[in-house]
Amino acid sequence: MLRSFLAASALLAGQALAYDQALGFNGAALVETRPLDDIYKAALAEGGVVTMWLGGDERTDEDALKKEFEDRFPGMTLNLTTDLSKYHSVRFDEQLASGHVYVDSIAFQTVHDFPRLDAEGALLHYAPVGFDQLYPPMRDVRAAFYGILTVGWAGKWNMDKLPGIEAPIEWEDWLRPEFKDKLVLTYPNDDDAVLYAFDLIMQQYGKSWFDRLLAQNPRWVRGTRSPDTVIADPKASWAASFTSDGLFPTKNINVSHPTQGSFVTWFQLAAIPKDAPHPEAAKLLHNYMLTPEWQSTRGSWPVRRDVPPPQGYPAIFDMPGTNITYFREWMSDRPRLERLRTWFEDKLGSAQGLSPLIDDIQ
Ligand SMILES: *[C@@H]1O[C@H](CO)[C@@H](O)[C@H](O)[C@H]1NC(C)=O
Ligand SMILES: *[C@@H]1O[C@H](CO)[C@@H](O)[C@H](O)[C@H]1NC(C)=O
Ligand SMILES: *[C@@H]1O[C@H](CO)[C@@H](O)[C@H](O)[C@H]1NC(C)=O
Repeated sequence: MLRSFLAASALLAGQALAYDQALGFNGAALVETRPLDDIYKAALAEGGVVTMWLGGDERTDEDALKKEFEDRFPGMTLNLTTDLSKYHSVRFDEQLASGHVYVDSIAFQTVHDFPRLDAEGALLHYAPVGFDQLYPPMRDVRAAFYGILTVGWAGKWNMDKLPGIEAPIEWEDWLRPEFKDKLVLTYPNDDDAVLYAFDLIMQQYGKSWFDRLLAQNPRWVRGTRSPDTVIADPKASWAASFTSDGLFPTKNINVSHPTQGSFVTWFQLAAIPKDAPHPEAAKLLHNYMLTPEWQSTRGSWPVRRDVPPPQGYPAIFDMPGTNITYFREWMSDRPRLERLRTWFEDKLGSAQGLSPLIDDIQ
């Protein structure tokens, strides 16, 4: 009896307590001062592994980060799993509920989860080097979570399939006849950041915009990388989309952003679970991802104000047509979001197809 009681207390001591932590008055952040190489040594001594759950659409998202990290820190293994944030998020709750946390770093699009997780005592308060350079809206005051990368949707079209067209910029432009049967879009009822796009557009342009969009006969897919694959495929007839990310044109894919209409940008929040089995490795990963070097090579806006914006673009807070801080507020109103999602499901049906992680649209 005593033995099992002791064993149970030992177990409890090592796990986050799921009740409000506010009155514990122990929220002060541990502020990192060590150089990256010292953290690296500590991470190697701890076992050299970091398990990260990253929100994303395609497994290939993870390859580049894994390679960069492992090349930069020989002997370290980045055990990275990419999946839709909404699925990662509930699986992480499941870990907390079972008292068995095995992930060291989380970076999710489900930004509304982080304040709740922190209130439950699930997150380490830890400020990586450079934390003070993060744009203030992108960092929690007690460093429980912070922006690690930014994402934004762009209009995109294949110029080989739509030669010589006038660039579609504003939301009404996608309703022009040349886009009939040519649009491929992600289900808004399958991804909150796409739902957000449709909400922004339709609050401004009305329901008739959506009716006219449907008259264009778009193809609906799961995953926000899938439209890129389909429009790039020379054999597919679909040629344009506005539900995937990217800032730079390529040889035959051009890119645009509205200035009168609103478009989606957000920052993905990251945190280290308080009971992460490899805290030093998680710290190494987060410090690395926040370096100016890493931030300046993402092909998107940095989360640090001391890192210049992507070439040809203003800083994110000066970019016309978007408000990167509004996403958190929007995501937090779950009852409203649920009603929006249901409205789209009624119009489009439930999202069809396998998870974008395992479907055959790369
Ligand atoms: C790698 O991550 C997976 C899934 O998150 C986990 O089940 C596995 O135990 C991890 N492997 C190591 C070596 O930590
Ligand atoms: C590419 O798109 C931009 C708008 O983002 C437009 O100004 C430019 O003319 C387009 N280029 C071509 C070749 O269509
Ligand atoms: C952007 O959104 C934030 C948070 O929702 C809001 O406080 C702010 O006023 C908005 N900024 C602009 C320029 O509209």
